[in-house]
Amino acid sequence: MIDFNLPIRPRRNRRSAAVRALVSENEVTVNDLVMPLFVIDGENQKIEVKSMPNIYRFSIDLLVEECKELWDLGIKGIDLFPALDDSIKDKVASESINPEGLYQRAIKAVKAAVPEMLVITDVAMDPYSSDGHDGYVEDGEIINDKTLPILAEMAVAQAKAGADIIAPSDMMDGRVEVLREALDDAGFTDVGILSYSAKYASAFYGPFRDALDSAPKSGDKKTYQMDPANVREAIREVELVFSEGADMVMVKPGMPYLDVVRAVAEMSELPVAVYNVSGEYSMLNAAAQNGWLDYERVVKETLLSFKRAGADIILTYHAKEFAKWTQDK
Ligand code: PBG
Repeated sequence: MIDFNLPIRPRRNRRSAAVRALVSENEVTVNDLVMPLFVIDGENQKIEVKSMPNIYRFSIDLLVEECKELWDLGIKGIDLFPALDDSIKDKVASESINPEGLYQRAIKAVKAAVPEMLVITDVAMDPYSSDGHDGYVEDGEIINDKTLPILAEMAVAQAKAGADIIAPSDMMDGRVEVLREALDDAGFTDVGILSYSAKYASAFYGPFRDALDSAPKSGDKKTYQMDPANVREAIREVELVFSEGADMVMVKPGMPYLDVVRAVAEMSELPVAVYNVSGEYSMLNAAAQNGWLDYERVVKETLLSFKRAGADIILTYHAKEFAKWTQDK
C-alpha cells in the first residue's frame, strides 16, 4: 500500500452511524412542523385535492378528527384554509367576518376538540373574494389602503373564534401594524402574528389554488407578492415588521428560496418560518408515483434543508406523514 501522509481525514467523522449521529448539526422533529389543512362545508366530506395526493378538503366534523389524529402524532400546530363556494364570494370578502361562517365555525370546532392545538389562521381576501385576489380590486388594481380595514376585521373575527396566531398572507403594505392594533383594541393582546413577510409571486402555489378554487379571475399577484429575482427586498420586508409588532416571520415558498431563508435567519430577531408550499409537495409526489424518487428519503432531506438554512418552523403538507414515519421507528 502506498503510505499517504494524510492527517486530516473528514471521513473519520462519518465512519459509523454512532459517530454520524454524534456530529449531526441539524435535526427535524415534529415540534418544528405545522400542518396546513383545508376545510369545506358539509358533513362527512373528505375530498382529495387532485394535484396533491393524500391531501384532503375536510368538512368540519372530519377536520376535527384529523386534528385529534395530528395531535396524537405530536403535531402541535395547524394552518387552516377555507374552500368556499363561488356563490358566497364578493368584492369585499364579506363572508370572512361572518361569525357563523365556515372558517369561524371550523376554528371553534378545532379549539373545542383539541384545545391545546395551535390554530394558525390565514388573513387574506382570496378565499372570499369574487376577484380571487388577496386585496380589494378596483378597475383591475389592488388597492392597498382599502384592503387594510377588511383584513383587520377578518383578523378580529378569527381571534374571536379562537385563533391562536393569525398569519397575514396578503402582502399589503402596513398590514402587520394595522392588524396588531385591531387585535389589541379588541382585547386580543395574546393572539400572535406570523407575518408572511417574504412571500414571492410563485408558480408553486398552483395546486393550492386548485384546492381552494381561489386563482385570480384576472391578472396576477405580481403587484403585491415579491419578484422571485430579489433577496434585498425580502430583508426590507422582514425589517419592517419587527417594529410593526410581528411575532414570527415567514419565507414562502421553501425549496427554491433556501438562500432567502438563510439570509432572513441571519438578520431576524424573530423566529423564522418557511412554507414548503403545495407545488413542492406535488412535485415530490409526482416523482414518487413514477418510481423516480424514494419518497420518504427525499421528503426528509427536503425538511432537513429548511433547518439547515436556518428555519425554526416549517409549514408543510408532509407534516402528518413525517410524524407517522417518526413514530413507526
Ligand atoms: C393566499 C395563499 C396562498 C397560499 C397560502 N395563502 C396562495 C396564493 O398566494 O395565491 C399558498 C400555499 C401553497 O401553495 O401551499 N393568500
